Amino acid sequence: LKVPNYIHFTDDPTTTLIEIIESAKPDKLALLVDENTRLWCLPLLERFSADLIIEIESGEKNKNLNTCQNIWQELTTAGFSRKSIMVNLGGGVIGDMGGFCASTFKRGIRFVNIPTTLLAAVDANIGGKLGIDFMGFKNHIGVFNNPMAVIVTDKFLDTLPKRELRSGYAEVIKHGLIADEKYFEKLRDSTFPEMDWQEIIRHSIGIKGSVVAEDPLEKGRRKILNFGHTLGHAIETYYLNNEKSLLHGEAIACGMILEAHISYQQKLLSKQSLEMICDYLSSIYEPVVIPTISEINELMIHDKKNVGMTINFSLINAIGSCLFDQQVSDKMITEAVYCYGNLK
Ligand SMILES: NC(=O)c1ccc[n+]([C@@H]2O[C@H](COP(=O)([O-])OP(=O)(O)OC[C@H]3O[C@@H](n4cnc5c(N)ncnc54)[C@H](O)[C@@H]3O)[C@@H](O)[C@H]2O)c1
Ligand SMILES: [Zn+2]
Repeated sequence: LKVPNYIHFTDDPTTTLIEIIESAKPDKLALLVDENTRLWCLPLLERFSADLIIEIESGEKNKNLNTCQNIWQELTTAGFSRKSIMVNLGGGVIGDMGGFCASTFKRGIRFVNIPTTLLAAVDANIGGKLGIDFMGFKNHIGVFNNPMAVIVTDKFLDTLPKRELRSGYAEVIKHGLIADEKYFEKLRDSTFPEMDWQEIIRHSIGIKGSVVAEDPLEKGRRKILNFGHTLGHAIETYYLNNEKSLLHGEAIACGMILEAHISYQQKLLSKQSLEMICDYLSSIYEPVVIPTISEINELMIHDKKNVGMTINFSLINAIGSCLFDQQVSDKMITEAVYCYGNLK
């Protein structure tokens, strides 16, 4: 497995961060946090100090151009230069947006990401995708760029709400399903409270890192990481306009059940594997109310991953193996939605 060279695993994030910063010799240092990571995560970096702390309000709804403008303004007012460094301490929102702001400020300054959620550690911080939401479209404006360093530790997970932990875990399960059968089995044999998160994070980063290394700009094989995401994304978008909230991983867990079902209908996946996947996912994630088939179609047409009108799926042809650019008929989607309804 290929772990990107900018990833630093550590049990002592303060020392690792201080060493990286000292050898990089910035003229100024900014730290980006939200109210939760300031409260819960910053105290774990006890000997670290920044010239400027920028605090933004947490949440996906703030991952937008307005917040970027505030960040760029604060950097400008505090006299930041191209020799400065920005440290982003937080989940995927902070990492994606902080990285985007750093990558565009004065045509790009160096930045260090410190993921504090499981999702950010196993997914958002590997692969160089940075950006913000725009006009209701997720990650619509952004760039590909890698951080100078990503500091990875499971130390921050203790304060993470359990629901957020479970949401990030969906991407971990996905890594097993698309690329590593043994990993999936190991996950299935463990129980939630006694997970070795540092080990899981390391392995998941290895899987995503290897896939991304082969195809950094998502022209081909990197698309396997989208398993569960074509329908999952539609469900996530549907819930944006719903009073009930649904986290990304919760939507993806549902998307993986549906897309495993489609994989089965396409005769790629055995019935036995399908049942194993559905049983495991349903043991962790509550069933959710999903949009109707016509609503799903409407939502998917706007999905930027689709070229023209054909909707391409990444489907698994066994546990631990995935195909991309698979065309799926409406009938199969309808059938999968129907079966999901019967799971409950
Ligand atoms: N760049 C990529 O390749 C990529 C991949 C997947 C997801 N993403 C992006 O990641 C974002 C989602 O990331 P997320 O799930 O980390 O959500 P998030 O960044 O919104 O964090 C979730 C919540 O947990 C809080 N929090 C963070 N760390 C904490 C801690 N240690 N203790 C207590 N509270 C803590 C945050 O303040 C927030 O309220 C989305 O915007 C998504 O688009 C990007
Ligand atoms: Zn995802």
